[in-house]
Amino acid sequence: MGIAPKATERWFILGTAPPGSQGLYCRFVIAISPARLRARLEALARFGALPGGGVTRPCWSPPHEAARAWLLGELRAASLQAWVDPAGNVFGATGPPGLGADRPVVLTGSHIDTVPEGGILDGALGVLAGLECLEALREAGAAPRLPLAVAAWSDEEGRYGSLFGSRAFTGRLDVERIPEMAAADGERLVDAMARAGFDARRAPEARAPAGAVAAYVELHIEQGPRLEEAGIPIGVVDSIVGVRRARVVFTGQADHAGTTPMDRRRDGFLAAAEYALRARDLVVRRGGGRSVTNVGVVHVHPGVSNIVPARAELVHEMRSPDADVLAGLAARCESLARRVARRRGVGVEVQPMSATAPAACAPRVMAAIEAACATAGLASTRLHSAAGHDAQNLAAVTDAGMIFIPSRGGRSHRVDEMSDWEAIGRGAGVLLGTLLALAR
Ligand code: GLV
Ligand code: MN
Ligand code: MN
Repeated sequence: MGIAPKATERWFILGTAPPGSQGLYCRFVIAISPARLRARLEALARFGALPGGGVTRPCWSPPHEAARAWLLGELRAASLQAWVDPAGNVFGATGPPGLGADRPVVLTGSHIDTVPEGGILDGALGVLAGLECLEALREAGAAPRLPLAVAAWSDEEGRYGSLFGSRAFTGRLDVERIPEMAAADGERLVDAMARAGFDARRAPEARAPAGAVAAYVELHIEQGPRLEEAGIPIGVVDSIVGVRRARVVFTGQADHAGTTPMDRRRDGFLAAAEYALRARDLVVRRGGGRSVTNVGVVHVHPGVSNIVPARAELVHEMRSPDADVLAGLAARCESLARRVARRRGVGVEVQPMSATAPAACAPRVMAAIEAACATAGLASTRLHSAAGHDAQNLAAVTDAGMIFIPSRGGRSHRVDEMSDWEAIGRGAGVLLGTLLALAR
């Protein structure tokens, strides 16, 4: 048993043939091709490529839909069955099309949409490494006991609402809310999906039958600095943060920015700014060391320099792997917003936008990843995921887990997001070993 030590070589998994080989003990070799994986990652990176590097490929946009067509072509060229469900999730499978409870699949995957000005690996790695593993298995003529499938989940980045495709697949989509789901720029999900040839009202039909997925494992870049700084090549994710987002709207009074005395202003923006700074301190102080917060969207109205801002809107996000801590932070931040508003003589409204629950990874999947690392002679460590992932939805319906590889400089959600190609090859090798163990 062994995996080649250098990712520039092919990565091998040795195993025994499945039962039914007439008592003969045969050994077969399954190898992923890091060169083929790299070529596909570079090809996918061309859809929505930015002149200075990185990509902008939001779900349902023309570059995303072109990438979807390309991915379907790659899946078919690899002799896999490929299809798209009503939520826009793309699947490739070693077995017949469709996922049924009669023959549960071992599923891997991630997403091909990106944040604006994002990198080439967030999501793409997990989808294309999954495709590589399935192709390698087919080339080796391996027949694991359970069929395997790879998914590209739609709108993981949540332009219209977080983790859309995997929410639909796991029956967690709030059907009533579909008509009002919209991007920060106001574009409605129903319109974006219609433009891409989908009917948003049919998305709930993507729900998989109970028992259709035997296990789920997703390969992803860490997107933070922990693995690189510790010099550890593989992270075994033990939990995934929950993310809460709320729109916080401070309403003051428009006034002349030159003539209104400073002490008479009711400035919506200054209230929002004070809230953002104090909320940051609150989350650092009360978040148990693993909670974070961000204000990534700010709108000031009317938004001209000679009018005191009448209104400021923030999208305030908080994350924690601990559900109670997260709920406590949300309550404290809401009272903070009210105190700040009162002191500054403005109104405030806190409108919850979305909340995903933290998820625990399955011991069986973590053990399979660790066994694959041990076989490969790779050190690993358990860690929580500070980013949200489709795996947290899958964890509600099956045993789910994630494999992390180091991110260069801990950088992600920026155009220079990258991991070493050797690390990518190692991650794909560990994914293959894990899939084989789960499908055995
Ligand atoms: C997904 O990228 C997230 O925002 O965590
Ligand atoms: Mn992301
Ligand atoms: Mn991602």
